[in-house]
Amino acid sequence: MSVYTDIHSHILPGVDDGSKNMEETLALLKLCYEEGTRRIFATPHYVPGHKSASPEHLRKLRTEVAEKIKETYPDMELYGGNEIYYKEGVVKDVKAGKVLTLADTDYCLVEFNTRLEYKKIFHAVKEFTEAGYRPILAHVERYDCLYQQSELIEDLIDAGAYIQINAESLLGGLFDRHSKYVQKILKDGLVHFIGSDCHRLDFRKPRMGSVFQKIKNEAVKEEIEEIMAVNVEKLLKNEWV
Ligand SMILES: [Fe+2]
Repeated sequence: MSVYTDIHSHILPGVDDGSKNMEETLALLKLCYEEGTRRIFATPHYVPGHKSASPEHLRKLRTEVAEKIKETYPDMELYGGNEIYYKEGVVKDVKAGKVLTLADTDYCLVEFNTRLEYKKIFHAVKEFTEAGYRPILAHVERYDCLYQQSELIEDLIDAGAYIQINAESLLGGLFDRHSKYVQKILKDGLVHFIGSDCHRLDFRKPRMGSVFQKIKNEAVKEEIEEIMAVNVEKLLKNEWV
């Protein structure tokens, strides 16, 4: 079985709309492990102007969870981060240390209102890159302005953006209409990272391996291998992908 890195999850207990408590966190981690995930980034929501957990609290929680993981799954690694909800000026919060970047690298996981207009997403990418960060656009398949607009995604990449999709979007489900499109952008080399975006046992479970096993298209499968073997390593070394 191949092993995977999940760069987007809400696995930390009691900090957002993800796992409710340590018991649920451990149950989710068990599922992650069974799905072939061996490295997972905990990326709780950070919403500017709202009460989000502090980096200190997140680090403490992550240490607690990591200790539990070590007991049961010594070959599993947990990394930190936030899923940053984009609002104009949020980069200042990142600069001020109020937000966690992915594994303390220059990579930031950034999400947008699904109806945000293209020029604002483009502006956001510029804001992050000009401040020295590498923005990863979370679940790009959800944004209306980018739907079936590969050339716009290419322009964002040229401007310094990285692209993340949710694994289960490859097969449909919650965002069914996107699955063909998601496989296409992956095949076309427009996707840099994949996450489960898992939340809870009863809402968006951590599907990775079980999704990938169902994919028939060879080009899509090759891209997934490349992402897991190459891109993730570069991210962890804080190198350009
Ligand atoms: Fe998320």
